Amino acid sequence: MNELNLDNLQELPYSMEEAINRLRINIGFLGSEVRKIMVISSVPDEGKSFVAAHIWRQMANVGTPAVLLDMDLRKSVLKETLGANVKGKGTSDFLAGSAELDEVICKTQLEDGDIILNTSNVMNPSFLLDSSRFENMMTELEKRYRYVFEDTPPLDLVSDGERIGSQCDGAILVIRSGMIPARMVRDTVAKLERAGCRILGVVLNRAASGANGYYRRYYGKKYYGKYYGRKSGYYGKDAKK
Ligand SMILES: Nc1ncnc2c1ncn2[C@@H]1O[C@H](COP(=O)(O)OP(=O)(O)OP(=O)(O)O)[C@@H](O)[C@H]1O
Ligand SMILES: [Mg+2]
Repeated sequence: MNELNLDNLQELPYSMEEAINRLRINIGFLGSEVRKIMVISSVPDEGKSFVAAHIWRQMANVGTPAVLLDMDLRKSVLKETLGANVKGKGTSDFLAGSAELDEVICKTQLEDGDIILNTSNVMNPSFLLDSSRFENMMTELEKRYRYVFEDTPPLDLVSDGERIGSQCDGAILVIRSGMIPARMVRDTVAKLERAGCRILGVVLNRAASGANGYYRRYYGKKYYGKYYGRKSGYYGKDAKK
């Protein structure tokens, strides 16, 4: 099995860490039948990879064996986000039959947290997702780990999420606060239900949490700063006068 250090896998500010901790505890209450959990959203950038990676990190940190499975087969950026200097084979290679499971699972600095990254993107993974290798992979992973957390592509663009969902015990739906209309969320829920995928819970990501909350700091600096510029006066308490 390969070993990988994830340079960017760090603890979050306290309030965020606590929110993920609550999610972790609630997942525990879902019972022993729920093992394979996909993290999905309607559109890009809602925070699927972020939520999947941090819930996996916390689960492993408390000694619960968990694997983070990168199922964004078309446009995966998880390895860059996590700072993983991975050169070997990954999810799509396994699904295509050119690698075995032990070649794609990587140990990380987390004793109980392994990871499978997608190292080569594919144009049309539908065929791979319909293959028996995908089903076999999920069956094997659920034997080896208490939880399999799957990072997925957004549901409105491609049908990969529905295919992945049909092999899961349920989904955590990430909704980025204020980003998409309620109608779109309803469509996503309907698609998941049609695919036979139970929605285990919803994460309202990046919701405002008060004047000194993470939301304000993050948005204030990164987004308002970036898109509106300093002159706009949207900087809040960090504004340069
Ligand atoms: N709650 C949060 N607080 C701070 N940063 C966040 C939060 N959620 C997501 N981000 C950041 O927002 C960016 C987009 O998040 P992420 O990559 O997880 O979205 P995604 O839904 O996986 O996107 P894609 O559909 O393109 O895969 C990343 O830089 C991530 O670190
Ligand atoms: Mg992602």
